[in-house]
Amino acid sequence: MSDKLIIFDTTLRDGEQSPGASMTKDEKVRIAKSLERMRVDIIEAGFPIASVGDFESVQAVANAVTESRVCGLARALDNDIDRAGEALKGANASRIHTFIATSPIHMEMKLRMTPDQVIENAVKAVKRARRYTDDVEFSPEDAGRSEPDFLCRILEAVVDAGATTLNIPDTVGYNLPTQFGQLIYNLRERIPNSDKAVFSVHCHNDLGLAVANSLSAVLNGARQVECTINGLGERAGNAALEEIVMAVHTRQDMFSCDTNIDTTQILAASRLVSGITGFAVQPNKAIVGANAFAHESGIHQDGVLKNRETYEIMRAEDVGWNANRMVMGKHSGRNAFKDRLKQLGTEFETEAELNEVFRKFKALADKKHEIFDEDLQALVSDTVTLDNDRIALTSLKVCSETGETPVASVTLCIDEEEKQVEMAGSGPVDAALRAIEELVQSKAELQLYSVNNITKGMDSQGEVNVRLEKGGRIVSGQGADTDIVIASAKAYINALNKILVSVDRAHPQV
Ligand code: KIV
Ligand code: ZN
Repeated sequence: MSDKLIIFDTTLRDGEQSPGASMTKDEKVRIAKSLERMRVDIIEAGFPIASVGDFESVQAVANAVTESRVCGLARALDNDIDRAGEALKGANASRIHTFIATSPIHMEMKLRMTPDQVIENAVKAVKRARRYTDDVEFSPEDAGRSEPDFLCRILEAVVDAGATTLNIPDTVGYNLPTQFGQLIYNLRERIPNSDKAVFSVHCHNDLGLAVANSLSAVLNGARQVECTINGLGERAGNAALEEIVMAVHTRQDMFSCDTNIDTTQILAASRLVSGITGFAVQPNKAIVGANAFAHESGIHQDGVLKNRETYEIMRAEDVGWNANRMVMGKHSGRNAFKDRLKQLGTEFETEAELNEVFRKFKALADKKHEIFDEDLQALVSDTVTLDNDRIALTSLKVCSETGETPVASVTLCIDEEEKQVEMAGSGPVDAALRAIEELVQSKAELQLYSVNNITKGMDSQGEVNVRLEKGGRIVSGQGADTDIVIASAKAYINALNKILVSVDRAHPQV
């Protein structure tokens, strides 16, 4: 059996299915480049049939990435598969991932198909996908609640039809580690042609077991794990890439395989994804949380100082803490700035874009002594606007004083027309957001507002995340500035620009 564990990242597809985590095409390309730098084997770039925007995003990732294989998701339907094949045309190496549900409840209630019809559709889909690429993955959706005998039948049939990877999803996160590991073991033993395909797993985290289930599957012969950065994904998320990779890497005494991942790139990717989606990483999150390598109690600190291994099982540097951290300042030149951004995965299409971010960098360097990678990433996010942005912040003035009601005066450019208003609020942020809403009249509801410092230090930029809901649609917006009222206004406007764009988008599993 292979000693290589294939890492299949689905941040851009399943991760994006998380309400409020939608990403623009440019953001997806930035994340894909960061995954490529990390040496992820396969990047699932999206579900091309979902919308024109999704198709173009998969196409853009396929064209931008050269080292990783790029994958597109397709239901077991002709149009889905053709669309995926089309979107992946420019890829150096491509994969089509097709799926159909196999659990009794899904077949009966969702698909309204008999088991035989499901097998027939699956076989047809795999054969059609093989017209576009010889790398075809098949998933029996909700395998974790499917009947093992039926799984054996359908999986044998799709391998005969040309599937090269068999992905076993625990779609609703129902399984327990020993049970899921046993399932993988049994499938491999019972399916006569199982040696012709790589076994993969795709676990959701509804019971907090996605990583444990994935690792148990690896111990039982799975050689591909589907996962996302920071465990982003529908409901409670998917298995976290960083946890899978570091568990296998750290416990080589238990695993007979290892990944090809450059672990030093993990933290940068985690920050990029949380910055773009606005899904903050909890401080106690394994590997990438702010406290993951912090030692507070005196006893621990003493132990670590005497010998690191007393309390540390991994080295912080190995996952990117303190590494790749070039500090820039007001004297840094345009070339150093451009090079650093390139290393962080951002290349500008035009000189004008580069000049604009460089101008903002110089302005920030006037206010802030040291500029870290996180500051640069926030500057890029702040500058790269959506193609169809309708609102821009022209100016913001807020008066806030003890004992007085704060008042904000806001000027926005909406559809190229300047509009100005003054509003009072319970605090300066409230006043500013009220003024913006007064001008835009979005009627969206603010569901979440959070502010965090991007880096250490009193002069740190504040990064604000907001989540808005309108008519059941959720979007998030981000903004960064050394002034958190301005950061709040930027974040709110960023979210409004997204909510004002109407999107008609299909969900793969509905
Ligand atoms: O969770 C799931 O079953 C999926 C499939 C599309 C693989 O995301
Ligand atoms: Zn999933």
